Amino acid sequence: MEAERPLSFFRDQQDAFALVSELQRESVATSTTGAPQASCDFAPACDQGMTPTPAVCWRNVDPSARILVVAADPGCLKQIRRTLYSVGYNHVSVTSNSRQVLPMLRSESPDVLLLDLNMPEITGLDILRVAGLDSALQHIPVLLLSDDKSAAIRRHALELGASDFLGKPVDPDELLARVRNSLVVRKHYRLEVEQAFRLQAEFQVRSREMEFTRNQLILCLARAAEHRDSETGNHVIRVGRYTAIIARQMGYPEKHLEMLEQAAQLHDVGKIGIPDSILFKPARLAKDEYELMKKHCALGRQIIEPVSERDWDALKSYVRPDSAILPVRTSPLLILAARIAQSHHERWDGSGYPLGLAGEDIPLEGRIVAVADVFDALSSRRPYKDPYPRQKCFEILKEGRGVLFDPTIVDAFFACSREIIEVQLSLMDAEDCVSPQPEA
Ligand SMILES: [Fe+2]
Ligand SMILES: [Fe+2]
Repeated sequence: MEAERPLSFFRDQQDAFALVSELQRESVATSTTGAPQASCDFAPACDQGMTPTPAVCWRNVDPSARILVVAADPGCLKQIRRTLYSVGYNHVSVTSNSRQVLPMLRSESPDVLLLDLNMPEITGLDILRVAGLDSALQHIPVLLLSDDKSAAIRRHALELGASDFLGKPVDPDELLARVRNSLVVRKHYRLEVEQAFRLQAEFQVRSREMEFTRNQLILCLARAAEHRDSETGNHVIRVGRYTAIIARQMGYPEKHLEMLEQAAQLHDVGKIGIPDSILFKPARLAKDEYELMKKHCALGRQIIEPVSERDWDALKSYVRPDSAILPVRTSPLLILAARIAQSHHERWDGSGYPLGLAGEDIPLEGRIVAVADVFDALSSRRPYKDPYPRQKCFEILKEGRGVLFDPTIVDAFFACSREIIEVQLSLMDAEDCVSPQPEA
């Protein structure tokens, strides 16, 4: 059976035995002092004069497997280590000091632990209990060495995480079989962990791609409406940024700011349904035209809001039967965007449209976008007007405080006006760069 091993195996073993013989001579001197034996030798080793004892052929031995053996009896430790080395396990660490076990588990991360149940001071069950609470240790297979046949003890050990038992005195063939089985379990666990990491990394990449695509689609949709009365479409980007800046100033939840910014970009998407003759009219709108313009709020909500039952069924029919579909109908982003599209022209005193809501009956996000939208409309060119100087924009907002606009939101706007102006300058449309605007 020995002849079945490749020649290189013996050569490696001989080199290893020579190396470890030196280490053994050093450790013999230590063991005679009476101190507890603790050999931390994840390196090839062989006791002088030992002969391999297993009676069966051992295949598929992984020489890189790391094995930690803990036993109170030095004779038992010696026998186990000799047996493991004899078949090619080159990384075996042993200790008879139970206080060293947990530090060794953490520092050496063995693939299998052979643990004596009956250790002095700290028992095998104590070690199992602590290791079971440590996420880094709880997946190491534990072979319990015990001559105790008590069912209660065994059940308790299994509950604490022991994976198998080995009777004492240790039978070499049984030892090797159980070690090999434990290593197979460990290997499968490692493969699963690696697979999970790979899948998680892939998932994160896909999520980022989807998020990027979603952001682009939102901006495309918002700009599709905006391009109808603006060359660059920067109005929707600026309103989104202003909204997020004001909301942060007001203590809006940080984790929702990005979603709010994107939702705000869609505030005027309903303009897609407004005739060109109204959008491009280079003068104030007539009453009937203004009434038509007001419809862009409801149109926007209808475009954005979660799909109807019929649309949902149609959407699902395009999805492969084996693939999961995201809960599009309940997307918080779309619900928020629909709410903003519907309410961004409502006014604090109830004079706005389409519903004439007043005060806090107007959704908070709609109130914030109202301030951001009006400031940007005032400070930008429109078909019917030139951009107003910044000071005049500020005065109009102040005049509207508590009348047209929520006073707390106007206060928040001025508290972060410096940041808003920075955004305005960085995203200014070329057509608005007419003359320098006076500082606020
Ligand atoms: Fe609007
Ligand atoms: Fe707007």
